[in-house]
Amino acid sequence: MSLATAPAKVILLGEHAVVYGHPAIAMPFPALQARAEARAAERSSLRSERYPETVAFLDEAVTGELAPATEALRGAFEALERLGSTQPLALVLKSDIPAGAGLGSSAATAVACVRAAFGAHGREAPAALVRAIATRAEAIAHGASSGLDPAAVCAEAPIRFVRAHAPVPLTLRAAMGIVIALSDAPSATGPMVAQVGERQQHEAGAREALVQLGELSDQGAELFEKGELAELGGLMDRAHALLASLGVSTPALDTLCRAAREAGAWGAKLTGGGGGGCAVALCPLELLEPVTAAMGAAGASHVWPAQYLLERKQER
Ligand code: PMV
Repeated sequence: MSLATAPAKVILLGEHAVVYGHPAIAMPFPALQARAEARAAERSSLRSERYPETVAFLDEAVTGELAPATEALRGAFEALERLGSTQPLALVLKSDIPAGAGLGSSAATAVACVRAAFGAHGREAPAALVRAIATRAEAIAHGASSGLDPAAVCAEAPIRFVRAHAPVPLTLRAAMGIVIALSDAPSATGPMVAQVGERQQHEAGAREALVQLGELSDQGAELFEKGELAELGGLMDRAHALLASLGVSTPALDTLCRAAREAGAWGAKLTGGGGGGCAVALCPLELLEPVTAAMGAAGASHVWPAQYLLERKQER
């Protein structure tokens, strides 16, 4: 049996802008994990504890919730076959990453599947191959995707990401607290990407907002590398305002961000596609509890606090 995992992800700056070739900053969020177990079997299949009534067989057409992970597995099997490994595998998925929250659930699931399939053959899947396979699977989950989610869930550290380029790792210079809070509605990545696409075609102001979001990512990467996290938080506040001007925030996300700032967070913004989903707050470690409590009291249905420490990437 082979067990593999992949973490959730959170976008600190640059969502939507990244679709148009501007930079973004994202990082793994290891407090939430997708896990895949692979076992030798007669016939290759995929099941998920989240959808217990469904079994996807890889030699049949698969639609619905398991389609993206099945596509990732097919990619892994093709790569393994080229290496001479043809043993059929049965995979089981377990994940504590909520689906439709903008936390990279589908990308993490795809990555865990690919890693588990390679692990079952005693091999380690090469990182670039995992990213490429997961990016193709994401296209099934969300339509065209920038590739940011697969890059972030594969990363060991925060990354600066530009579409179609290898991600560049950023070094954490100061400890920080991150709070992710789920709003009252699921994220609507596909419709929000389409809406922003429409607006940037017709409105110079929307194109300018996307350019500014990309510039915030570049400034943010510099501040991150200097450990100037309070200033980075300020950029997140500005990014939230720009995203709201593009129409992808909601009153619930605005309320969560305001509550986090009032509790002392350095900054807060919606994270991911928007239209629902999550807000993320960046705060000093000593304010993790009050910021978490404030976002919970402001209507979040779930709140996940995490410490990012210098010696280890992250601890709960
Ligand atoms: O909603 P999420 O977490 O899948 O993030 C989407 C990020 C976008 O920039 C809006 C789209 C993309 O493909 O990068």
